Amino acid sequence: MSAQEVIVGLDIGTSKICAVIGEYNHNGMLEITGVGTAPSRGLRRGVVINIEATVKSIITAIEAAELMSGREVDEVYSGLAGGDIEGINSRGVVAVTGRGREIANEDVERVIDAAKTIVIPMDREVLHVIPQEFIVDNQGGVKNPIGMMGVRLEAEVHIITGAISSAQNIVKCINRSGFKACDLVLEPLASARAVLSNDEKELGVLLIDLGCGTSDVMVFLNGAPYYTEVFPLGGEQVTNDLSIMLKTPIEAAEKIKLQSGCCYQELIQPEEEVLIPSVGGRAPRRIMRSDLTEIIQSRMQEIYGLIRSKVDEKGFLKMLGGGVVLTGGGALLPGAIELAMEIFGLPTRLGYPVKMGGLVEEYRHPAFSTGVGLVMYADNQTEIREIKKPKEKKGSFKNVFDRMKDWFKEFI
Ligand SMILES: Nc1ncnc2c1ncn2[C@@H]1O[C@H](COP(=O)(O)OP(=O)(O)OP(=O)(O)O)[C@@H](O)[C@H]1O
Ligand SMILES: [Mg+2]
Repeated sequence: MSAQEVIVGLDIGTSKICAVIGEYNHNGMLEITGVGTAPSRGLRRGVVINIEATVKSIITAIEAAELMSGREVDEVYSGLAGGDIEGINSRGVVAVTGRGREIANEDVERVIDAAKTIVIPMDREVLHVIPQEFIVDNQGGVKNPIGMMGVRLEAEVHIITGAISSAQNIVKCINRSGFKACDLVLEPLASARAVLSNDEKELGVLLIDLGCGTSDVMVFLNGAPYYTEVFPLGGEQVTNDLSIMLKTPIEAAEKIKLQSGCCYQELIQPEEEVLIPSVGGRAPRRIMRSDLTEIIQSRMQEIYGLIRSKVDEKGFLKMLGGGVVLTGGGALLPGAIELAMEIFGLPTRLGYPVKMGGLVEEYRHPAFSTGVGLVMYADNQTEIREIKKPKEKKGSFKNVFDRMKDWFKEFI
């Protein structure tokens, strides 16, 4: 098998960088054959702030994945997130021009282009344009209009834009690490791929990827995204709160959170105690676990409350028949599910990457949803991806160029 048949997802997260290698087995099924992670030290709230540190982590993560799979990595599908992400809904209309008024591929491309013509600031660029539905002569709810007869074709789309500089820095880090970026994919879109079922997306679902530096949120209705937002708050804030309130270093606070953290009072015993290491050679202290829970719970309430009010403001809260799905490392915090159920008033579940062949144990963890999702996304782009021209030669960088022509000039 050539290196070309290997699909590599690279999740450049705030706490860890994770490389996931997918390969097709002899039945043509995609399997995960390598997973490599490295602590990430060059990001802040999902955005690269230190190129050198990020390059080091990328190399370590990819080398570990290479070692596990026995494959050599050349090009990667990378995730992108950060506070500059924005999702908007737009609509385009065109007249069907084809022979006999049969809707052809070109008509779909034109209507998507029309929907895409929105004014976006100079420092932003379009990352994804995802069709929600097509309307053929006032008949809505059409998923694929090609071959249908009609005079007037409308498209409703979800457009995701991001800051050009954030994307440029990610590509720069990948290039400096000695790899090629074949595409940049919005991280929660990749996570959605790995954890949401088609039924959930059809019924209406709120996906929350609780990361270290950001909480990425997407709402899917009728199978398509309608709302995207990256909140610059995550597990890191919880740890910082603990560090300040308990007067203990960040590392100790993170350890306490992982060992004894909980964000829902009802789940803990009232008399439980937790040992807190102190600084400066002083003896460790004991605190009530309920006090620890109170600190964590109030921050989690703030994060969920913020998400709830935004989703409600957009009118989507009442449309979530599929409930809430939590993923990302922060979703493992005990009580995260219970608190979400209370705040959103909706059934909530933990989202693990779907079962695929290969290294099942290694990748079935909510922190790997983005990495696994990137591989799945790359494997089957057509369903949720921007409708685009026939694929250029893989790895030629042309795919990225198609969408981001002007971004990378300085780098290649
Ligand atoms: N068992 C656990 N209980 C509580 N929190 C946890 C647990 N496991 C991981 N976390 C938290 O999850 C966060 C890391 O999650 P994840 O790996 O998804 O983030 P990331 O992808 O690196 O960051 P981001 O997506 O924000 O850029 C950290 O804040 C960590 O403390
Ligand atoms: Mg993440």
